[in-house]
Amino acid sequence: KRQESIRNFSIIAHIDHGKSTLADRILQQTETVSDREMQAQLLDSMDLERERGITIKLNAVELTYNAKDGKEYIFHLIDTPGHVDFSYEVSRSLAACEGAVLVVDAAQGIEAQTLANVYLAIDNDLEILPVINKIDLPAADPERVRGEIEDVIGIDASEAVLASAKAGIGIEEILEQIVEYVPAPIGDVEAPLKALIFDSVYDSYRGVVLNIRVMEGVVKPGDVIKLMSNDKEYEVTEVGIFSPKAVQKDFLMVGDVGYVTASIKNIQDTRVGDTITLADNPADEALEGYRRMNPMVYCGLYPIDTSKNVELREALEKLELNDSALEFEAETSQALGFGFRCGFLGLLHMDVIQERLEREFNLDLITTAPSVIYHVNRTDGSMQVIDNPADFPDPSMIESVEEPFVKANIMVPNDYVGAVMEISQRKRGEFVTMDYLDEYRVNVVYNLPLSEIVYDFFDKLKSSTKGYASFDYELIGYRPSNLVKMEILLNNETVDALSFIVHREFAYERGRLIVDKLRKLIPRQQFEVPIQAAIGTKIVARTDIKALRKNVLAKCYGGDVSRKRKLLEKQKEGKKRMKSIGSVEVPQDAFMAVLKMD
Ligand code: GTP
Repeated sequence: KRQESIRNFSIIAHIDHGKSTLADRILQQTETVSDREMQAQLLDSMDLERERGITIKLNAVELTYNAKDGKEYIFHLIDTPGHVDFSYEVSRSLAACEGAVLVVDAAQGIEAQTLANVYLAIDNDLEILPVINKIDLPAADPERVRGEIEDVIGIDASEAVLASAKAGIGIEEILEQIVEYVPAPIGDVEAPLKALIFDSVYDSYRGVVLNIRVMEGVVKPGDVIKLMSNDKEYEVTEVGIFSPKAVQKDFLMVGDVGYVTASIKNIQDTRVGDTITLADNPADEALEGYRRMNPMVYCGLYPIDTSKNVELREALEKLELNDSALEFEAETSQALGFGFRCGFLGLLHMDVIQERLEREFNLDLITTAPSVIYHVNRTDGSMQVIDNPADFPDPSMIESVEEPFVKANIMVPNDYVGAVMEISQRKRGEFVTMDYLDEYRVNVVYNLPLSEIVYDFFDKLKSSTKGYASFDYELIGYRPSNLVKMEILLNNETVDALSFIVHREFAYERGRLIVDKLRKLIPRQQFEVPIQAAIGTKIVARTDIKALRKNVLAKCYGGDVSRKRKLLEKQKEGKKRMKSIGSVEVPQDAFMAVLKMD
């Protein structure tokens, strides 16, 4: 029976431990793609992704494997994004599998995202097959890593395959273990259709393409499907699999992983995690776990050239078609004019969107410092949800403020434990536990305000641990904090886009820092410009930018022409990223200065 020969699995790993390389090897070994077609890292299809070396969009590939037992097996390899911002998507793609190949770097051992991904796999009841990769490296210490997997994760690693995805060692062993240990899908082909949407992408010809895993029943073209979270109905136009190119099929049945198109125009209707059933023979209940993904980090995006506002909206609408987690709405800033308030799953998600807007749509943007979502309990008893510091109410109307906290796992060699604790304490962290991963490495757990992580925690962590720390976090809820809004005044005018929320204890220090930083970033003007930081009506820091005296070209008087031209070019370059705030020219960097303070 077909169902018994199916094996659905994912590869999970910490970033850079070799997931994509292993996936490529598996495709090669099973001749899913010929060597000629083999392009490095086929599963990561977006250019940006390739450059950044991270996997953002999920994908699934069907391949056939002729096992040593003489039988032919159908494998579905489901790709997962590796980053914490996308943990819900990781979890949904794991829910489409029965097994997970856990790749751990033989020189690095378990890192923060190894653990985060393993927990997601365990939550989804997957069979976990550990693989110790990069055994070709001189620094490889497979036995130490085997011990770590057993001690830290608590799974049997005695049969962990020792592999080198790069050198092609151990690949067949991995494939054999998948046949032997990953269970075939269960589920009833006669039952009403139940299929999990684990990804969806927008295709301009076919509309939304849903990536699904069929859990029960069958789906074929002509069927009218229903999305169980919102009861929307669509007629199926095509079903198929990726191999890795799209191949049409007559139907998809229990255990299959493939795609469905149904002329769906709006990707917002098809959230990842939803269940598809048939309109005329619906399943009683949806598959477990459908959850809306809510943005955690917000920032303002403004075109430098204000006439590009419409283009920015169109670009955001296009990106939204492929990214149901992206949110945006129009907003106006006194300082920056018309723009959009955008919500992201996390910092990486934000970076990726900004970069795509600039690169793919050729937009020059001013981005304001990211903010988390605050809960403000007002004196009138109501609660206000605030994602933009500029909207923070007057202190007299505030009873209390709550902010999101996360639990962070930080893994470091033990020499750096002190440094990690110092940073975490300074960032208002609350120590939870500390466990030894092995003789040399420690997992330090802290509860931290998300706003501090958004601020500069990661940069600080990297620099004070020489890059050895790995880090992962999950939201644990809201807690009251003593927070105030800091406003920045340029030339005695409040610049709304520079406002930020800060803990009262750090307010003076941060006010001082930002004022000094702005003084360095904002070029001299024709007149003296005071810069002030204020809480309510109270000025906590002040400095002045001295008026400009000399003409830039004066110092090259009589000098050679090319030098003069260079100077002018340089000035023009600088201008491009400037924004006039009242009568003051402010460079883009200034808006991010609230963030990076060294
Ligand atoms: P992300 O896509 O960023 O999540 O990383 P990944 O886990 O997919 O890692 P990737 O396959 O891109 O590999 C990361 C780096 O490790 C690349 O430079 C690979 O060439 C290298 N690499 C992968 N496997 C091996 C191996 O077995 N041995 C050695 N020496 N290098 C390897």
